[in-house]
Amino acid sequence: MTNLLQTERLIIRSWIPERDAEQAFVIYNDPEVTHFLGKSSRVTSIESQRQRLIEGIERMHQRNNGTGSWAIVEKESTTIVGTIILKQLPDKDGLPTQDYEVGWHLRRASWGKGYATEAGQVMLNYGFSVLNLPVIYAVVKPENHASIRVTQRLGMKPIGRTNKYYGIELLLFQLDAPVKIEESSS
Ligand SMILES: CC(C)(COP(=O)(O)OP(=O)(O)OC[C@H]1O[C@@H](n2cnc3c(N)ncnc32)[C@H](O)[C@@H]1OP(=O)(O)O)[C@@H](O)C(=O)NCCC(=O)NCCS
Repeated sequence: MTNLLQTERLIIRSWIPERDAEQAFVIYNDPEVTHFLGKSSRVTSIESQRQRLIEGIERMHQRNNGTGSWAIVEKESTTIVGTIILKQLPDKDGLPTQDYEVGWHLRRASWGKGYATEAGQVMLNYGFSVLNLPVIYAVVKPENHASIRVTQRLGMKPIGRTNKYYGIELLLFQLDAPVKIEESSS
């Protein structure tokens, strides 16, 4: 098992399909969670959930650029409480663009604890400092107020509406990489 990152309360690690499918199913079988994620995100069996985790890991290996989707584990309980994503935004045909997005999905029982903000913060830091991305975006459906609040807590700047990604109209939020202070040689 590879831990990618950690925060005070959370571990961000790779998915392990054989072990994690049941806990991932709790997230993606819940219509409240998938409401804003599109019909195809709802999973209806543990076996298809396992298959999705396997396919996600295969795509990560193919891209091999440090981007992907990881499990968010609550340290205290060792329970998987959600997913955190950092990957290229797809265009209307599903092809990757040169723009990167951060995204968050939490199981219903773990909303309201600040976990999306905590995981989002460390993922943004990883994108800027490890992947050297100059800018990271988030795209949110206009009615998804909980997710819009997460972008605000993360200090992301609202840019307006866009049709560039996923073939639908979404609100776009942007965060620029922090300015690097070069060490003076004198
Ligand atoms: C979007 C989603 C992740 C937001 O979850 P959330 O729990 O509201 O977001 P956070 O983890 O940032 O938690 C913030 C809440 O926890 C509270 N909180 C408690 N302890 C906190 C702490 N230590 N730090 C920050 N916030 C804390 C905040 O007050 C806030 O509540 P409020 O919105 O009533 O003010 C969640 O609604 C979800 O999974 N939705 C379904 C999937 C989805 O739509 N994803 C987004 C697609 S764009």
